[in-house]
Amino acid sequence: MGGYKGMELLEIIKSRRSIRNYKNKPVEEENITKILEAARWAPSGLNNQPWKFIIVQNSNTIKQISKFTKYSYIIEKAPSLIVVLLDKNLSYNREKDIQAIGACIQNMLLMCHSLGLGACWIGEILNRKEEVEKFLGIPNHLELMAVITIGYPYEEDIKTSSNRKNLEELIIKKI
Ligand SMILES: Cc1cc2nc3c(=O)[nH]c(=O)nc-3n(C[C@H](O)[C@H](O)[C@H](O)COP(=O)(O)O)c2cc1C
Repeated sequence: MGGYKGMELLEIIKSRRSIRNYKNKPVEEENITKILEAARWAPSGLNNQPWKFIIVQNSNTIKQISKFTKYSYIIEKAPSLIVVLLDKNLSYNREKDIQAIGACIQNMLLMCHSLGLGACWIGEILNRKEEVEKFLGIPNHLELMAVITIGYPYEEDIKTSSNRKNLEELIIKKI
């Protein structure tokens, strides 16, 4: 599995799927670093870079985090998690800061895909945000935004189909 080197950007974007099952194979440290590099280079308002990360690779800790969401079956199989946090000390406009976090997460998902890794954005865990923050022992100025599960995908899951609305439905008007 050599990833998707040479693939056109639109092809990478379109062929990325949320991967919810992972092989029992750890994610190499250098790949975690590449994913975080992609995150770091996301755009943000005033270039304030309001993101912070917790990398979780301890299987016992992953198991415990999984219990805070109904998607525990996804988290517990993942060899690595990236917990994405908003640093409120760096925040200048909550709406724009959260948009920047979204860009940062999308960069990570695309980087995972281009490395031949599978990832899933777990937002449902925000329903128990305070409990997760407490469990992770994070200070008050950091706020949970998402948990990203990362691992090596099974071949059949990479090929899962998805669909999107037609462009005509999305464009209000051309003026
Ligand atoms: C903000 C956000 C939150 C999400 N939360 C979850 C989640 O909690 N559990 C999950 O399985 N997928 C979650 N997803 C993944 C979406 O279900 C997925 O992106 C969507 O169905 C399209 O499928 P695709 O990513 O395979 O193209 C989330 C995606 C986003 C952008």
